[in-house]
Amino acid sequence: MAALKVGILISGRGSNMTALIDACAAADFPAEIVLVIANRPDAGGLARAAAAGIETGLIDHRDFADRVGFEDALDAALRAAGVELVCLAGFMRLLGARFLERWRDRVLNIHPSLLPAFRGLRAHQQAIDGGVRVSGCTVHIVRPEMDAGPILVQAAVPVAADDTADTLAARVLTAEHRIYPQALRLMAEGRVRVVDDRARIDGAAPPPDVLISPSGI
Ligand code: GRF
Repeated sequence: MAALKVGILISGRGSNMTALIDACAAADFPAEIVLVIANRPDAGGLARAAAAGIETGLIDHRDFADRVGFEDALDAALRAAGVELVCLAGFMRLLGARFLERWRDRVLNIHPSLLPAFRGLRAHQQAIDGGVRVSGCTVHIVRPEMDAGPILVQAAVPVAADDTADTLAARVLTAEHRIYPQALRLMAEGRVRVVDDRARIDGAAPPPDVLISPSGI
């Protein structure tokens, strides 16, 4: 089967983008990254994508009078490259209902919390302020509401008593880099069905363990 053509949208350093590029480099991976678009000229991930030999583009939202114009430009660039699935990877703009209807169930996002907890910005500080013992990250299909939509894969990451937002972010990020390629693989293999706005994964095994945090009590 031909590899699924993927476009990635970024706003920053692009470490999740890099994890996706690295996963797709494996000969048997069922997806390929054909385009990376940033909405900011200073997005460090653009250079990383170009170094990997991937077509890159800059579509700066500030060049457009409104969101519809910006999203039409995104849509046109994605279609021109033959993109079939869009992965948001640290893309700091909300996508509107019109764009998402055109790309229904074909836009993924990664968020650094166990959704639906701690949506929006500063998710790690929210987790620490909330005193939770377990946080994590989520890959989901995008809906117009912020950090909402059918959940594909989650990883649970323990929160240490002395964690700061930065130390927790670093621990969660390593889990992000593991689960985003897993979620992309599920989509590319056609194993995801959205039923009643929940994602069903064909052939998924039950999760193996309970995670208790703190441990040793
Ligand atoms: C990640 O923590 C991701 O979960 C969030 O934004 C951050 C992007 O980091 N949506 P990077 O650009 O992928 O390194």
